[in-house]
Amino acid sequence: MEKSRQHWPSRWIFILAAVGSAAGLGNLWRFPYLAYEHGGGTFVLVLLLANLIVGIPLLSLEVGLGQKMQTAAPGAFGAIKDKFKYVGWFAVMVSVMVLTYYMSVMGWGVNYFASAFNLGWGEDTSAHFFGNVLQLSDGAGVMGGISWPVLTGMIVAYILTYFSVWKGVRSVSKVVKWTATIPFVILAILLLRAVTLEGAASGLELFFIPDWSALSDPKLWIAAFSQVFFSLSLAAGVMVAYGSYNKKKQDITGSVFWIVAGNFLVSLMSGVVVFGTLGYMALQQGVPVTDVVAGGPSLTFVTFPLAISLLPALNSLIAVIFFLMVLTLGIDSAFSLLESFASPIVERYKGVSTKKVMLII
Ligand code: ALA
Repeated sequence: MEKSRQHWPSRWIFILAAVGSAAGLGNLWRFPYLAYEHGGGTFVLVLLLANLIVGIPLLSLEVGLGQKMQTAAPGAFGAIKDKFKYVGWFAVMVSVMVLTYYMSVMGWGVNYFASAFNLGWGEDTSAHFFGNVLQLSDGAGVMGGISWPVLTGMIVAYILTYFSVWKGVRSVSKVVKWTATIPFVILAILLLRAVTLEGAASGLELFFIPDWSALSDPKLWIAAFSQVFFSLSLAAGVMVAYGSYNKKKQDITGSVFWIVAGNFLVSLMSGVVVFGTLGYMALQQGVPVTDVVAGGPSLTFVTFPLAISLLPALNSLIAVIFFLMVLTLGIDSAFSLLESFASPIVERYKGVSTKKVMLII
């Protein structure tokens, strides 16, 4: 299989693709709200620990397995023992499940990117998110209609994702050069803006100074360890597939170090941007930073747009680059989840074109 198999053009492209897969909405959208809910700095510390004791070893194993077997998750597990191929398929199904809701969140991102140019979310960002964008019904038992903003946003996100992967490793290699690096540049700009805001210190204090009493809360540990799985795209067939496009003798441990470090850095930078801005908001609203937002998944889509609207200057510009970053961060994670599923299908049905498989998925 190795001869005809596509390979990454270089080790660094593999590292960029893997960092691109790891660093995504999980760092910018999921991580800050978990940190906010679970004691800020304490969560960051436990997350670091989880990266060391679960992240690095598991990522090495997954990349190593794909690289050694030169095939995606089902084939790689199957090469150990035939029946194990189902373990690989289960992992792939995790990617499929995550992808279904990941693309909705990407769709929200597309909407917000479009609204960013004129701060179209208005003053009541909560009413805009839940009413105009999500169009939530009164409960899970009440069937709402189709939310056109979410549907069109999702279609745009799917089209972008498709054209990033349609030629397999070849197109992914080109796209990740941009999608894995642009977010770092934008994050650095936003970080400088956030830390120089009045009041930022109170937010940063919450983010960096551990509250040791939170350590005894088992929910914090569960949240931090599951975040490592989500964030490093583990147990989802992604890293096995990406590893399988490495040359067989390529270094693993060095690459894994860079992937984990790069991903953690994106989380830290996102945290500083979000928490610094929350500190500013707290000062504006005259409340403690722990009361400025209810937490939860709407942090990025309710609190952050409001914070951007409250900024003293350059609001639209900051809004546009912030949501551009959401999209560039998310897209390479989205297509890695797609790749996890597409790769074994392309292997299984030899002769079928990658473009067709990607399109159908
Ligand atoms: N690893 C991807 C993320 O964190 C799924 O967004």
